[in-house]
Amino acid sequence: MSRTIIRGGTIATSEGRFAADIACANGLIAEIGQDIVAGEGDLELSAEGKLVLPGGIDVHTHFSEPFMGMVTADDFTTGGEGALAGGITSHIDFAFQYKGETLQQAVDNWHARAEGRAVIDYGFHVAITDLRPDTRDEIPRMVEAGYSSFKVFMTYPALVVFDDDLLEILRLVGGAGGRVSVHAENYAMSNSLIETLLAEGKTEPRWHAVARPWMSEWEATVRAMALARVYGAPLYVVHMSAEASVAEVAAARADGQPVIGETCIHYLVMTEEKLAAEGFEGARYICSPPLRTKQHQDALWAALHDRTLQVVGSDHAPFTMADRRKMGADDFSKIPNGVAGIEQVRPLLWSEGVAKGRLSVERFVEVTATNPARAFGMWPRKGGVVVGGDADLVIWDPDLRTVLSMETTHSATDYCLYEGREVHGGAAVTISRGEVVWQDGKLSARPGRGRFVPRTEVAHV
Ligand code: URP
Ligand code: ZN
Ligand code: ZN
Repeated sequence: MSRTIIRGGTIATSEGRFAADIACANGLIAEIGQDIVAGEGDLELSAEGKLVLPGGIDVHTHFSEPFMGMVTADDFTTGGEGALAGGITSHIDFAFQYKGETLQQAVDNWHARAEGRAVIDYGFHVAITDLRPDTRDEIPRMVEAGYSSFKVFMTYPALVVFDDDLLEILRLVGGAGGRVSVHAENYAMSNSLIETLLAEGKTEPRWHAVARPWMSEWEATVRAMALARVYGAPLYVVHMSAEASVAEVAAARADGQPVIGETCIHYLVMTEEKLAAEGFEGARYICSPPLRTKQHQDALWAALHDRTLQVVGSDHAPFTMADRRKMGADDFSKIPNGVAGIEQVRPLLWSEGVAKGRLSVERFVEVTATNPARAFGMWPRKGGVVVGGDADLVIWDPDLRTVLSMETTHSATDYCLYEGREVHGGAAVTISRGEVVWQDGKLSARPGRGRFVPRTEVAHV
């Protein structure tokens, strides 16, 4: 049996850094040690002068997802290819239960999208939109079957779940050993503001930020935490963007509540001025919550540093400019919400965080691999450099310089959100379950090679 040996690198985990070789066999990390001797047929990769990191885990993606009248542009192949180029080897997508469906139908539908197409390993958060007696009964069975996290939207007309059902979901999921993630924005506030702005003739993309103010995220975050607290349910607040809501999460955590905050790369590297770009160009930056001011952005970096925010995801939900224009040329509120980022999340976070001295290498690994694995039941199989764990590894070159552009991105969308921006640091080689799938700028991942990862107990981080 041939092995893959990564030689001469510095292994970086969330705990520290050390020089060692790694031998991978049968898709697993078989050995970590000094001067591992290669046998006949072994593949040797040099990591001299580079770091060896755990493969990234993006727990917030929307592949092939119908939303706001369109479907996200990346499927499980193109989205996964971008992930591999950016040093990410696993993701958790959302299996949506649409009205009238069972939770089992939801996961079956999403498995059908992934099978034969996935190039990286995947799991599903079950997005509940229709809580009925039979849905209630399904929750513990879903947790047993490896879907240990659920998603609830507190806004969006087609998806919103109101407090009585949210409280019940928190009770049932918490009781079954799972975690509830919430999209925390106040439903009434955005509806009212959208109506008011449109009535005043304010239809351009820049009004999106005005329609979804920080108060909306703050109120919903506080409410979700209060509801979760009633039953001690583990909570995860996705895509946090606002200073005030992050402060509330910090206070709740200090008080012992098992709540985890996630932010996304676009909030860390862009601000709301982007939405005011010439003509319809601001539409390319539309996502919810919206990009905010520098004051909010600074608070996010501070919260990453002080461990209030424990995960950085992409919220990869790319819609083409063609689709944005088709839906929302005359009304910002109809532009499908979401941006691309799975390929750029690690290089941008390295560039703006580690290279600028705002994050340590260990913290980078923690928020992009180890914490996501622990919080969502993938640890220790994934998220670390552990003997017996999956050989999902990245030879990371801190000196790599890349200019992000449509030419280099793998996303099927028709623009690059970060066009022309130079990043420092990136994946020289990406290895998934022992297989080299990205090297020297070339992909070699067969669609269908990605596997479903049943997830177990969630942990507080
Ligand atoms: O704008 C966003 N975030 N779109 C994707 C759906 C969601 O709310 O996460
Ligand atoms: Zn959301
Ligand atoms: Zn999302």
